[in-house]
Amino acid sequence: MGKVYVFDHPLIQHKLTYIRDKNTGTKEFRELVDEVGTLMAFEITRDMPLEEIEIDTPIQKAKTKVLSGKKLAIVPILRAGLGMVEGVLKLIPAAKVGHVGLYRDPQTLKPVEYYVKLPADVEEREFIVVDPMLATGGSAVEAINALKKRGAKNIKFMCLVAAPVGVEAMQEAHPDVDIYIAALDEKLNDHGYIVPGLGDAGDRLFGTK
Ligand code: PRP
Ligand code: URA
Repeated sequence: MGKVYVFDHPLIQHKLTYIRDKNTGTKEFRELVDEVGTLMAFEITRDMPLEEIEIDTPIQKAKTKVLSGKKLAIVPILRAGLGMVEGVLKLIPAAKVGHVGLYRDPQTLKPVEYYVKLPADVEEREFIVVDPMLATGGSAVEAINALKKRGAKNIKFMCLVAAPVGVEAMQEAHPDVDIYIAALDEKLNDHGYIVPGLGDAGDRLFGTK
């Protein structure tokens, strides 16, 4: 079963409070989501493999470490996932960026796929799928289905706020995918919104309604 990691770093929790606050406007919301994306990327990359190389410092030769292993790709689930991409890229600037376009039908709450574009070497990459919200889990499950269908084998999922039912849906559908979140909230309301949550992430990021 996929593990769930809750990032309880004080800076992440502090910024998340202002992301949740309904009085936070679009500009600040976007900046905060970006910052939390960077902080979460720092945590999520903790287990990246290193290899030793030799360099010359101004003083002498030294054996020291650089990243090795698989190349990374970040995949935002459109549209709200876009808000986390730049923040992650600040720490992993060489990562490729794929896109999966899904929206949640407001009546059925089922995801509808409208766009998928991934880097060419899918099988060799490690993917970090990003979306601020994991509510019913339908969108994340479907996005990861889309990646796996195209050959992706190594996938992590990162979001800001998750509902327990969404985590369960992901663990059932994708037991090989670990989930990285900033907060595990209480439940969903009758409209499928996370409670207490932060509202509609896409609308708050882009100032739409
Ligand atoms: C939101 C959010 C997730 C999805 C989560 O997207 O960004 O993708 O809902 O809900 P789920 O876990 O129940 O599937 P939305 O469908 O509102 O589209 P948007 O990003 O285009 O606003
Ligand atoms: N999508 C959102 O943007 N917010 C929620 O609370 C649930 C799904």
